[in-house]
Amino acid sequence: MPIFFQQQINPGTRLGIWKIEETETFFRDSVPVHRDVTHPHKRLQHLAGRFLLQFLFPAFPYEMIQLADTRKPFLPSEQFHFSISHCGDYAAAIVSRETRAGIDVEIPIGKIARIREKFLSPEEIEQFGVGAGHPENLRLLTTLWSAKEAVYKWYGEGKVDFSEQIRLQGIDEEQRIIRCFFTKTNSSLRIHYGSFDNLVLAWVIDEAITG
Ligand SMILES: CC(C)(COP(=O)(O)OP(=O)(O)OC[C@H]1O[C@@H](n2cnc3c(N)ncnc32)[C@H](O)[C@@H]1OP(=O)(O)O)[C@@H](O)C(=O)NCCC(=O)NCCS
Repeated sequence: MPIFFQQQINPGTRLGIWKIEETETFFRDSVPVHRDVTHPHKRLQHLAGRFLLQFLFPAFPYEMIQLADTRKPFLPSEQFHFSISHCGDYAAAIVSRETRAGIDVEIPIGKIARIREKFLSPEEIEQFGVGAGHPENLRLLTTLWSAKEAVYKWYGEGKVDFSEQIRLQGIDEEQRIIRCFFTKTNSSLRIHYGSFDNLVLAWVIDEAITG
């Protein structure tokens, strides 16, 4: 299947989600350079993520990708900033000529409720109504997790205390935005989120925030 979801975020920034229904050969034909991954499905996910980079921007130079110590892939020239995520049969990527970016896709599963205290502060659990005393809202919990993963990737330098340093401040369900303050860089961020049948998406870029 071709692209599952695509969005032109601003003139220089594009996002895509691919539903993987192809075999490895399909992606290998287009992706000349990639990391060796032992597990076959993980390798397929990895290839699909890389494939999306040039799908979104045909000029994307695969051969220039390098891996930081944190395992974040990047282009030293900063010709493009990009971020990749995969989950199940989906791969997602955001590519930008202008701004740093972070993306995450997740399939809601029960495990997230068991680890909520690891990534959410007591204030966030209270504010978003996702404590053990509330009816289980796996989709919301997964969205909050995905939002923090997207910030972690946008930051890209590793070592982040999710519950202490990524502070989610509120959710605007109409605009599909979670307001966030990231203490490591003193940044106010707007984390955009989306929801598909069995998939949750979150992404963040540098953007001017007013009001
Ligand atoms: C690196 C990490 C973000 C990957 O997330 P994941 O859900 O396992 O996997 P995803 O498919 O969403 O993302 C994988 C992609 O992220 C990218 N990536 C890897 N490390 C990265 C980093 N440090 N920064 C930005 N992007 C990174 C890569 O593109 C990778 O895909 P690829 O190897 O095929 O190119 C995650 O493993 C991680 O370390 N999270 C933080 C953990 C943490 O501190 N938790 C504490 C809270 S409880």
